[in-house]
Amino acid sequence: MADATLLNQVKDFANRADPYPIYAKLRQNPVSHQDDGSPEGTWVASTHGAIASLLGDPRVSSETLPPADRPKTGNPVKDFLIKPIKDRITNQHRPFIFRDPPDHDSLRAAVMHQFTRERVQGMRARSDRLVEELLDAKRDAHRFDAVDDLAYPLPVTVICELFGVPREDEAQFHSWATQLATALEPDSLADDENRAENSRTFDAIADYMSGLIKDKRRHPKDDMLSGLANEATPEGVKMGDYDLIATSVLMLVAGHETTVNLITNGLLTLLRHPDEFEKLKADPSRAPRVIEELLRYEPPVQFRTRTTLSPIDIAGVTIPKGADLVLLLAAGNRDASVFPDPDTFNPDRVGSRHLGFGGSLHYCVGAPLARFEAESALTALTRRLKNPRLVEDPPPYRSGAALRGPQHLPVAIDGMV
Ligand code: HEM
Repeated sequence: MADATLLNQVKDFANRADPYPIYAKLRQNPVSHQDDGSPEGTWVASTHGAIASLLGDPRVSSETLPPADRPKTGNPVKDFLIKPIKDRITNQHRPFIFRDPPDHDSLRAAVMHQFTRERVQGMRARSDRLVEELLDAKRDAHRFDAVDDLAYPLPVTVICELFGVPREDEAQFHSWATQLATALEPDSLADDENRAENSRTFDAIADYMSGLIKDKRRHPKDDMLSGLANEATPEGVKMGDYDLIATSVLMLVAGHETTVNLITNGLLTLLRHPDEFEKLKADPSRAPRVIEELLRYEPPVQFRTRTTLSPIDIAGVTIPKGADLVLLLAAGNRDASVFPDPDTFNPDRVGSRHLGFGGSLHYCVGAPLARFEAESALTALTRRLKNPRLVEDPPPYRSGAALRGPQHLPVAIDGMV
């Protein structure tokens, strides 16, 4: 029998800096039932084989968001007329990361039609330039915070430019994206105040996007939102306004904190492995393999949640219908049966089948973008930081257990090259 408190230990902030020994205990049972305080408990898949199998299983659903329930305002017209309508629309038009086929597939296809290789790769040089500008601003500094000074501003600027969000409006997306990312944390979702804050934030960003979509219809430009708002896919799919808003919000939020964490976890790991720092500095063409290994070794998304549509027999247990399920991607990434010597950071592994971007039909849409943003950042950091030293190890972490990464990563430097 697995220790049924392990999932609670994963969520416990005291273990945020190093959850990997708990994952090792969980892997002793590929799928285990955990007592996390919820009425029926939660099932956790923690080996590579079990996670990969469940990711591709049509009996596993991504529709895990609790029903929208906006907080009452005290104004009867708003509370009894407008609120039920808004709640119903929000429930019917979830972002496609929280939806199953066939809706998931048609919405995703519409995004992929616009999120073309050319459009995404067209941002690569821009990402390199943005990194240089952000580092130039710290040229004479003796202290550098990898989060505030680089990792945080970069992804939001890149995704806003790709979508055609005007520069002057970018700043708002930082706080919106940070708040809405809590929808990926099971504990935050169970917290009424946080859910109310998510509703308020969603309404604010939805109002903003609705105005921007109108503008893109009147004055289309060569950006993703203009494409999504005005063009159908070759199969004739064109999103309605509510799905378009939910999808835009998803794209702006999903790529934010995740990419911040990849860059920050990347610098932290390289500073803990100075030989790898020096190798990347001497040979920037190592960046892609360094980043794939980071996605295995310190994945920004540690787990995702699901629910079961019917009972599933797997690894000697039966997960019942309607069960809450956690797919512990970060534990699967340290499974010794797939990754020899899994606790060693080794960018020279070949053919890595890491789960850092998930798998199967919900595989990350933004993977190519995240990869080159991290390449821009880590190659520039190794080249430009003079004599970097970690100020605190471990650094302070943000609260999230699912989206896990440092809150700040202070580094002492002797200026920038
Ligand atoms: C290092 C950065 C990133 C990581 C580690 C990451 C990780 C993931 C993971 C694990 C999933 C699977 C979710 C699931 O199975 O439920 C996912 C899905 C998704 N990601 Fe990313 N992501 C990153 C960056 C981005 C970026 C930059 C974007 C957008 C520009 C993005 C957009 C999405 C979307 C839209 C989905 C949902 C796909 C679907 O449901 O079909 N991600 N991501």
